[in-house]
Amino acid sequence: MTRWNNGRDEVEPVSPDITDETNALPARYFTDPDVHEMEKENVFGRYWVYAGHANCIPEPGDHFTRSIGDREIIIVRTQDGDIEAFYNVCAHRGSAMVEETPMTDPGNASRIQCPYHLWTYDLEGELASTPKSFEDARLNPDLEDEDVSPVDPEENSLMSVHTDRIGPFVFVNFDEEPMSLAEQAGTMKTELESLPLEEYHLSRRIVSEVACNWKVFAGNYSECDHCQTNHQDWVKDLELLDSELEVNDYHWILHYKHREDVEDEMRIHDEHEAKFYYFWPNFTVNMYGTADGYGTYIIDPIDEGRFQLVADYYFRDPDLTEEEETFIRTSRQLQEEDIELVERQQRGLNSGAIAQARLGPNEHTVHRLHRLAQEAYEA
Ligand code: FES
Ligand SMILES: [Fe+2]
Repeated sequence: MTRWNNGRDEVEPVSPDITDETNALPARYFTDPDVHEMEKENVFGRYWVYAGHANCIPEPGDHFTRSIGDREIIIVRTQDGDIEAFYNVCAHRGSAMVEETPMTDPGNASRIQCPYHLWTYDLEGELASTPKSFEDARLNPDLEDEDVSPVDPEENSLMSVHTDRIGPFVFVNFDEEPMSLAEQAGTMKTELESLPLEEYHLSRRIVSEVACNWKVFAGNYSECDHCQTNHQDWVKDLELLDSELEVNDYHWILHYKHREDVEDEMRIHDEHEAKFYYFWPNFTVNMYGTADGYGTYIIDPIDEGRFQLVADYYFRDPDLTEEEETFIRTSRQLQEEDIELVERQQRGLNSGAIAQARLGPNEHTVHRLHRLAQEAYEA
């Protein structure tokens, strides 16, 4: 039974067993600013987090920036074609170097240069040059020029961030010794890498600020019990009762069967279904059953009560056909329907009435999400 905040009921950690009455994350985890601060380390500082798409930075020197929690990073295509990530922080006196550069409008530079005193780094993050003023002691009467030791380029390179990829999807990890991306992604990595994801290009990005905790939206994405009543246009072409929700360690997959077979050319994969992957903590891959393309969501927390939803759409040709435009409009309509639901849920949570909610037996994907959050908080 639901536990109300009426002074009598106590909350407990999310039960491992979904049939227990404490199977949901206590409500304060969706409303407390201290939890938001703690998640910057325990969640976003520890797991593999999506940074962006490799196709957007094809040439050496192409780069974009990304903020994850309080950390600002630069993701760059290096001289030999790899992708690396660095803190956007100069090794001299810690200035941020590159202004915000979105993935949709990447920059290109042969070097990374700090505008403050012009320390300059190569694309591998190694210090390439410093101005003359770091080589002699001209303005310091207590020091002879020959006492000045040269700045060691290796010891003064940029601070790198672990990166790895699933096909063209670039992930970063801020932990010193992270588990491997292969371990966190499990079968999702092999499944996605069997598809020609590189052949598709970013065609549209839609960004929305939503007034709810990021985990509220994540929970909404992870179940379709609300679809019949709230997405009537969408479900009319689906066999909702034939859908399947598959739970894995750090990801879950929602399989939705279409009422009628969709033409093969309309799908990137062989399965006759739409397949939506949720990858802990905040990334989704959307394999549509009715479009020769795919999408991703980034669910980026802003604070405990707001997040940014970044919806990216990938098609073979970045110039969209009429059909693809219609497809994106339908997808946007779904997002708007969900935004209304999650903002309403947050209003309820903010009232403080509920202490610990109660999940149903078919909300096992949401249970997995709540369990992962609980595990991260306890770590
Ligand atoms: S802080 Fe970057 S060059 Fe001085
Ligand atoms: Fe929904």
